[in-house]
Amino acid sequence: MATPHNAANMGDIAETILLPGDPLRAKVIAETFLENSVQFNTVRNMFGYTGTYKGKKVSVMGTGMGMPSIGIYSHELIHFYGVKNLIRVGSCGATQENAKLGTILMAQGACTDSNYAHQYQLPGIFSAIADFTLLKTAQEMAEAEGYPYIVGNILSSDVFYTETPEWKQWAKMGVLGIEMESYALYCEAARAGVRALGIFTVSDSIVTGEATTAEERQNKFTNMMKVALETAIR
Ligand code: ADE
Repeated sequence: MATPHNAANMGDIAETILLPGDPLRAKVIAETFLENSVQFNTVRNMFGYTGTYKGKKVSVMGTGMGMPSIGIYSHELIHFYGVKNLIRVGSCGATQENAKLGTILMAQGACTDSNYAHQYQLPGIFSAIADFTLLKTAQEMAEAEGYPYIVGNILSSDVFYTETPEWKQWAKMGVLGIEMESYALYCEAARAGVRALGIFTVSDSIVTGEATTAEERQNKFTNMMKVALETAIR
């Protein structure tokens, strides 16, 4: 049955899904990497597709930007469509010198400035972590391919444009990069007992002010997608 945000029927979506923020990225991923892909959603232009990769059923869908948006889509994928493995593929800004542009950053954990976990009424602060099996597989894939990667903590922030450099405080805690979605994704997965992982290409450095060119982004994106897809089918 469809949800308010997703027109798919039960069975249309694979147990494993890749989640870029940009729905047009989802279209490109389906067209470039999947075979026999069929579109299952166009509601709000949040495109979703199911196809196969090396013979295994895999889906891909946009999530939009920010934690409320990925919270809605991931919640519905898990609770209405039976999705069990959710792999976010995105970009992030580096908050450490050693998180070089173009590197694949794998979010072992996600910190946040958001109130997303408030809904669970926990008597403390929830540490949002990646599924170890997905993380281990992705790490092994990146290692085997020789792609530069880094594994550690990230910040999922509610704010892209800030007047104050809060990132420096997070960097002092070893946080490697900033994006805007993974904390909510990890919360949704943890609450439902399913698996989630966020992997990113470092698109810009908040430390140095550098940013990747469009061409660099495309090449590095392809590397990250290979890691994500090989992780998805294992
Ligand atoms: N995604 C990519 N770069 C980012 C940044 N600098 N801040 C937040 N999200 C990002």
